Amino acid sequence: MSAKEINARVFRFDPSGDTEPRFDSFKVPVIKNMAVLDVVMHIQNYIDKTLAFRCSCRIGMCGSCAMYINGRPRLACRTQVSALGGSEITIMPLPNLPIIRDLATDMEPFFQKWKKIKPYYVGGGELEDPAVIRPDSGERECIDQMLDCITCGCCYGACSMVATNEDYLGPAALNRAYTLIADKRDAIRVERLKTVGRSYGVWRCHAQFNCAEVCPKKLVPTKSIQQLKKRSFLQKLGVFK
Ligand code: SF4
Ligand code: SF4
Ligand code: FES
Repeated sequence: MSAKEINARVFRFDPSGDTEPRFDSFKVPVIKNMAVLDVVMHIQNYIDKTLAFRCSCRIGMCGSCAMYINGRPRLACRTQVSALGGSEITIMPLPNLPIIRDLATDMEPFFQKWKKIKPYYVGGGELEDPAVIRPDSGERECIDQMLDCITCGCCYGACSMVATNEDYLGPAALNRAYTLIADKRDAIRVERLKTVGRSYGVWRCHAQFNCAEVCPKKLVPTKSIQQLKKRSFLQKLGVFK
């Protein structure tokens, strides 16, 4: 193999016909600034058209290209081949989700949980004017770091509690719930807190930060979950309004 080639070991599985998954190896020429997404695109364009994967924006915005690359959930479009080191890359589908085919996972369980926390703001009544949120208010600042989720599922794929409890809401949905519960204008904060305080909610989190370690947007869902635990406790005592 020439120095300008990489060996890509790619997970293959078609649930409609295969009984076992396998790895296929492909030699791919390395070009300057090549991302792992370019590697799988090269394979699909020039070597094996049947390789299945998902992508859209190619700039780390849509969250659709999350894969398990060299043993860690990452966005394929934002992972440079040169940054991985070595002459071989192992590419697998994101863990903790059903496989549609090869590297394409079914995000339905992830979004079902997202749906469970009602991921949208619910206002308390008709406002004549738009609500004013002062940029320098402390309340606004407290969720600043938590707003940029692109629903890629990397955290979900890294969470050992999702792996062992299929009902656990998981880091992304809980992070989103916190951004809404932290907003005093939200009319269903108590209902949301009851949802996240159930057996499949915040108390499952063991706070080991696996989710934060892999988040491509540098969010720290563990922190949001710790905040939710505090509020859930207060709500159970009847002192959260
Ligand atoms: S800190 Fe909590 S949510 Fe994050 S990976 Fe660990 S168990 Fe999952
Ligand atoms: S919290 Fe981070 S890793 Fe999890 S879905 Fe959102 S952007 Fe992706
Ligand atoms: S293709 Fe959109 S985040 Fe990678």
